[in-house]
Amino acid sequence: MKTKTKPPKPIRLLNGRQGRATTSDIAKIRKDFPILKEKVHGKPLVYLDNAATTQKPLSVIEALDRYYRKYNSNIHRGLHLLSEKATEAYEASRVKAQKFLNAADSREIIFTRGATEGINLVAQTWGRQNVKSGDEVLVTHMEHHSNIVPWQMLCEEKGATLKVAPISDAGELVMEEFYKLLTAKTKILAVTHVSNALGTVNDIEEIVKVAHVCGAKVLVDGAQSIPHMAVNVQGMDCDFLVFSGHKIYGPTGIGVLYGKYALLDSMPPYQGGGDMISSVTFEKTLYKKPPHKFEAGTPHIAGVIGLGAALDYVSQIGLGNIAAHEHDLLVYGTKILKEIPGLTLVGTAAHKAGVLSFTLEDIHPHDIGTILDRQGIAIRAGHHCAQPVMDRFQIPATARASLALYNTREEIDVLAKAIHKVLEVFK
Ligand code: ALA
Repeated sequence: MKTKTKPPKPIRLLNGRQGRATTSDIAKIRKDFPILKEKVHGKPLVYLDNAATTQKPLSVIEALDRYYRKYNSNIHRGLHLLSEKATEAYEASRVKAQKFLNAADSREIIFTRGATEGINLVAQTWGRQNVKSGDEVLVTHMEHHSNIVPWQMLCEEKGATLKVAPISDAGELVMEEFYKLLTAKTKILAVTHVSNALGTVNDIEEIVKVAHVCGAKVLVDGAQSIPHMAVNVQGMDCDFLVFSGHKIYGPTGIGVLYGKYALLDSMPPYQGGGDMISSVTFEKTLYKKPPHKFEAGTPHIAGVIGLGAALDYVSQIGLGNIAAHEHDLLVYGTKILKEIPGLTLVGTAAHKAGVLSFTLEDIHPHDIGTILDRQGIAIRAGHHCAQPVMDRFQIPATARASLALYNTREEIDVLAKAIHKVLEVFK
């Protein structure tokens, strides 16, 4: 269904004000997240593992609860009232996702299990149909495993070549090299918008423009950008974009694949089953049009409804406000962490989202993570499902603090103090 692009909703916070969110703005937001009141090892929870998954506001928790209490039912099938209500809520979330991404048409929104499934879907459908022996698939050195392995599998099957665009010591794409790797052989470029391990923000609009000149399609991994900045798929002109619900304050097990309608329509189905067919006989099955062609079986109905509530929540605050607040925290956190002796930030791109990856002398990041946990601070330590990034920097792992809209400068101070404690333990 085509809908007109609406102007953004009124901003609840920072309305008409310049500068960073006030303590009371954030205090108000924090009240929406029940888990933030929890204690961990007797200390107030400082949740800085938002790139792994975000916490859920009450509105999302209540949307899930309401669905299961009041109208749990299968969709697109029943004639009864509950099924109608569930179908309506499910399809309303599709329109919410369309508007959120500024897609031209709600049929361009496919619900998946998450970003990973979205990428696999494209590789296994569009990829198998279009990538042939001798062709090339281009990825970058900063991709998450989920935007490497599906393409590797496709290339192995088809006899195609996986090319990798290099990154600099700051963790930025080396654009001259990147442009050289884009050739008439490149069938698809799969690129992250924001690196989960480094925080680098890629200039997708520019990248898409160049890729299209070479005739390549572009898939954008939006898992780490969608929660933190306004993303406009028509503005970017990308062919596909994926994201995960749980990284944008929604439930786990649900995500979105955006694809230009003509492309989706030309692609074979990913999985066969109920709800994706228009008729079945033993001789021949006819498929529905997108999006239903790609949503075989009973979907994660509650997840879709919860995701819709999460998108409403984020839209109400405003991505501009969220980006400004997180940028303030990033600048503050960068300054504070840089002052810690022996701490090296990994990922120092000029344009970064709220990711603070670091090493600390030769202390293993797992030890850092464990000691911080005893202080109530949740971070991630490891290779962050981005082993090639670690190899590029010749390190096995980093400790990573990643920010969200409910984090505060005070929490960064607690983090810095706890890192000093780590140094004391290893003195
Ligand atoms: N991709 C998620 C992360 O970066 C799990 O932590």
